[in-house]
Amino acid sequence: MSDFSSIVILTGAGISAESGLATFRGPGGLWEGHRVEDVCTPEALARDPALVHRFYDERRATLTEVRPNSAHEALARLEREWRGDLLLVTQNVDDLHERGGCGEVLHMHGELNSALCAACGGRREWRGSLPPGSACAECGQAALRPDIVFFGEMPYQMERIEAALWKCDLFLSIGTSGAVYPAAGFVRTARHAGARTLELNLDPSEGSLFFHESRMGPASELVPSWVEEILGS
Ligand code: APR
Repeated sequence: MSDFSSIVILTGAGISAESGLATFRGPGGLWEGHRVEDVCTPEALARDPALVHRFYDERRATLTEVRPNSAHEALARLEREWRGDLLLVTQNVDDLHERGGCGEVLHMHGELNSALCAACGGRREWRGSLPPGSACAECGQAALRPDIVFFGEMPYQMERIEAALWKCDLFLSIGTSGAVYPAAGFVRTARHAGARTLELNLDPSEGSLFFHESRMGPASELVPSWVEEILGS
């Protein structure tokens, strides 16, 4: 076993790319086909709720067509066998970490398979399409929206994440461009707190210079071999 005792892992769209889910930036990325300001801001939801709901309905529908890959499964093995502290934070809104076997996943940008009531803040699991104006089962208001953190909104559980970053001795980033804050700043917090920092990515990210080590390649290869390494087997 390695000499680390507390690991924080951040994942981005790149870990799900080999499962067939589109990333955001780069060729064929989601932000190539849609403008963020049209589908991923509170103003867009107020201006054209049908377009925003349709965008997330389409992404939610693709989840039934894809499967977790060996990177998701390797992190589930780590969760089962690692004896130290582990926090898995994902920017992804898909359910592939859970379907790959991870029991505890912190979705800082929300989840496609969840609906949020804009009136009472209640949440419920949601599959299929979510028509604008769907009624909340808790407060009865016609205010359900995709449970997605839009640009300009505060990501979820930031206090818990920050506390874990200050405590960890290893910070691992997998499959993210480092383009969006606060997630893009996690490496600096961890490094400032004295953690070792490692990046596994297909291409250099915007934060690469802040990592002690960057390994370039597909997550489906790099993540399983890193888990082997860290478990010492
Ligand atoms: N293996 C590993 N990394 C990969 C792979 C792969 N097979 N394919 C792509 N990548 C890397 C790319 O090199 C890129 O750095 O994944 C990263 C994907 O970057 P983005 O598309 O920007 O996705 P992400 O970093 O998760 O975006 C962060 O931005 O738009 C918001 O809320 C959205 O959560 C998202 C956030």
